[in-house]
Amino acid sequence: MISVGARTDDTTAHYNIVARLFHWTTAVLVLLLIPIGWVMTQLDRGLTQDILFVTHESIGLTILGLTAARIAWRLSHPAPPRSRALSPLEVRASSIVHTVLYLLLVALPISGYIMVAAGGFPLTYFELAEVPKLLAKDEPLSKLAETAHLTLQFGVSLCIALHIGAALHHRFLRHNDVMARMLPRLRQSIW
Ligand code: HEM
Ligand code: HEM
Repeated sequence: MISVGARTDDTTAHYNIVARLFHWTTAVLVLLLIPIGWVMTQLDRGLTQDILFVTHESIGLTILGLTAARIAWRLSHPAPPRSRALSPLEVRASSIVHTVLYLLLVALPISGYIMVAAGGFPLTYFELAEVPKLLAKDEPLSKLAETAHLTLQFGVSLCIALHIGAALHHRFLRHNDVMARMLPRLRQSIW
């Protein structure tokens, strides 16, 4: 009998549940946060814009907390051995993209926080609590952080596009086990 998992290598290790939870929670939040950022900056001032700003900033701070915990956890829990389907060049390229993604997931919320705190703007966590401002008002610093934030958001969008494109390429064109490392249930399917 032909196994339905025949197109993937069932002996290949996959990320464990903690790594997968960190990955997919962060992925959903980032994929929500970016379009919110784009839309909120196009709107006229008003209640809708205020709500989107608070939502963007609060989700961004959540991502910062999650990423700090994730990096700490990841440093003490190495990833499973890389897929044997990848060439040495692909291993290198994907490691670089993953590292850059981690760096951006720290740099973007920090630059956002500095922009808002040093700009003297209100900052709450989902309107439930005030977020402490660790900086005095400093407009040049706020402007610098704004430039960094608006530049880095292009970097994160580009890396995410490359990352998702690569995952889909492995899944649907090369039919290898790379996607199943982050979604182990996929091993059961034949495509
Ligand atoms: C992973 C985290 C984050 C990502 C990926 C991100 C991404 C973005 C994006 C895509 C925009 C729209 C840029 C544009 O349309 O030109 C934006 C704008 C903005 N973000 Fe974030 N952001 C993050 C975290 C934060 C945090 C934590 C804060 C504040 C606490 C923040 C504050 C802002 C503000 C105030 C703007 C508007 C800037 C302006 O209009 O000049 N962001 N962000
Ligand atoms: C539909 C969206 C996504 C898919 C299908 C996807 C898929 C994957 C897969 C298959 C891996 C394992 C790669 C390997 O083992 O070589 C992975 C790892 C990773 N992904 Fe994603 N991803 C998505 C979204 C995102 C987003 C939005 C981010 C961050 C902004 C992200 C950040 C990462 C990071 C940092 C790793 C490396 C994990 C580690 O080794 O610690 N992913 N992703």
